[in-house]
Amino acid sequence: MIPVGGPRVAGRFDGRRVLLTGAASGIGRATAVRLVAEGATVHAVDRDELGLAVTAEQCTGPGRITTATCDVTSEPDVIATVAGAAARSGGLDALVNVAGIHRTTPIETLRVDDLHLLFEVNLVGTALMCREAVGHLARGGAIVNVASSAAAHGNPYMSAYSASKGAVLAFSLSLAAELVGRGIRVVPVSPGTVATPLTAAVTPGDLDFGYFARIRSLLGEATPEQVAGVIAFAASDDASYLTGAELRVDGGSHT
Ligand SMILES: NC(=O)c1ccc[n+]([C@@H]2O[C@H](COP(=O)([O-])OP(=O)(O)OC[C@H]3O[C@@H](n4cnc5c(N)ncnc54)[C@H](O)[C@@H]3O)[C@@H](O)[C@H]2O)c1
Repeated sequence: MIPVGGPRVAGRFDGRRVLLTGAASGIGRATAVRLVAEGATVHAVDRDELGLAVTAEQCTGPGRITTATCDVTSEPDVIATVAGAAARSGGLDALVNVAGIHRTTPIETLRVDDLHLLFEVNLVGTALMCREAVGHLARGGAIVNVASSAAAHGNPYMSAYSASKGAVLAFSLSLAAELVGRGIRVVPVSPGTVATPLTAAVTPGDLDFGYFARIRSLLGEATPEQVAGVIAFAASDDASYLTGAELRVDGGSHT
């Protein structure tokens, strides 16, 4: 049976070393499973140790997975984690930044703490990982940063989250221009609505969520595996001529 998200490309990541954040859940977990199935050595990091253990159980080879807890907002954590992963495998071929958080609120109740936290995890965490990993990435390597379709399309009650993801998108496009001469590609991947714990935690409460029903993709919600397939493509040599271009994986919601 072909797995949802497409058939795995046997051996595409043989000998490739990938550092992956947000690997304890949702899209990050599906990405770990996919990359290990395609032969990669995946250094999976997250702040959730138990979730990482579940991910490791689900990765069945032929590649392999190592796990390490890391809070991507902690500079010392990121420095140690990236150095440790690179040392264990003698360098890196790809960095995939999936770790992220979401908040939904009308503008009147926007909390400054939440605004800071969204930018700390989504933007600063991604930027720190890139800064630390870039010196370990081989020529021909890739950075894949998960942004969101919300980066470029308006969604009610998501202004703060959208702004943080817009920052991830802008950061990635400029980094792509900076690294192109070093043979390192940077690809922002922007999912629409994906069935994960992150979206399950969004409850309408008193808010009018009719807007989301109107833009809902005819394809329905994506599975994490469908996004993982695109991330794997972007990180692989199949995408060797792809850099500085956003891959929007939203089932056509905004077309
Ligand atoms: N689910 C969606 O509909 C959707 C849509 C667009 C973009 N995204 C983005 O995709 C990414 C993955 O989302 P998901 O839906 O799989 O969510 P998820 O909540 O299932 O997984 C997010 C992971 O990030 C980890 N994480 C959060 N903060 C961290 C930190 N400070 N340090 C280390 N790890 C941390 C969590 O522990 C968790 O394992 C996020 O960046 C999210 O914004 C998701």
